[in-house]
Amino acid sequence: MKNLPAEYYTDPAIFLKEQSDVFSTSWQLIGSAAHLQHSGDYVAADIAGTKVFVVRDQAGELRGFRNLCRHRGAKLLEEGSGHCRSIRCPYHNWVYRLDGSLERAPWFDETERLNLDEWPLHRITVGIWRNLVFACVAGKITLENQLGGLAEEIKNDPIEDYQWAGQKRMVFDANWKIYTDNFVEGYHIPGIHPDFFKAIDFEKFETTTGANLVRMTAPVRDDLFYQGRWLWMWPNWTLSFFDGGMNTSRINPIGVARTELIYDFYFADASEAARAARDAVIKSNIAVIEQDFDICAQVHQNYLSGGYQPGPLSPKHEQGVYQFQTSIKEALGESEKP
Ligand code: FES
Ligand SMILES: [Fe+2]
Repeated sequence: MKNLPAEYYTDPAIFLKEQSDVFSTSWQLIGSAAHLQHSGDYVAADIAGTKVFVVRDQAGELRGFRNLCRHRGAKLLEEGSGHCRSIRCPYHNWVYRLDGSLERAPWFDETERLNLDEWPLHRITVGIWRNLVFACVAGKITLENQLGGLAEEIKNDPIEDYQWAGQKRMVFDANWKIYTDNFVEGYHIPGIHPDFFKAIDFEKFETTTGANLVRMTAPVRDDLFYQGRWLWMWPNWTLSFFDGGMNTSRINPIGVARTELIYDFYFADASEAARAARDAVIKSNIAVIEQDFDICAQVHQNYLSGGYQPGPLSPKHEQGVYQFQTSIKEALGESEKP
């Protein structure tokens, strides 16, 4: 069991292949159903460079589209959640209805009318699972299939009861797989997260793998904000539990060597009285997340240097890394073991 060769993390050609063979063909967690309750509510997101949005249309249906104007390709909606009555392109003011049809192309031509029916937005598929909203640009598998072992893993967790409490976006300079390798192992906790290390029983840290899933658990010693269970799901999202809450994250590449994390926080107690407690959990959580950025960026620099030969993976601590890397090779059409 060896780590992936360095070029997997640094080669622009591999990144291009991942955009099509990993990100466009998989279901991507783009938000919470809480943001899509009413007609006109939308969530716009970047999926490894592909701009998309999901909107609830006038009839109450959820629809997904490429966030790309059919005229000359402008982005229609800024990333994030919001509300609109129709979708107006900022470039030349074409207006689309919430069902994606083109309503108007103002000033286009005074003599010959444009056939508006020929220029609807490009559709993508949308799925909701337990109040989490997923989008898929060019899917091959069902959402249920992709979620693999997760349904069973969290069947007793009342995640629908948790109210969305905020989002945090963080960016760092490393390939998205370096961060993912890091997320799916607890081996680095003593070195990189000394306070977190003191708050768990590291000797009992366990990593197990399931279908499209890596599960990490540890007994929590002190009053740690984490419950002691961390999940990663293929290809790029995570779910970690607090007592009475959780976070989700999506690991989104914005270049070969630059990655954004989009973290969403949810809590059962959404009261004003509990605000300070929620904010304290979010702050502590973000502090732990940020501790990983420097080491990931340094690893990326060393992979770029040409001096790295794949090292051995720990059977006890790095089977999650092995599973992720094996899945990457499969998705890219390479079957030999790392
Ligand atoms: S690119 Fe959208 S109206 Fe021109
Ligand atoms: Fe970490």
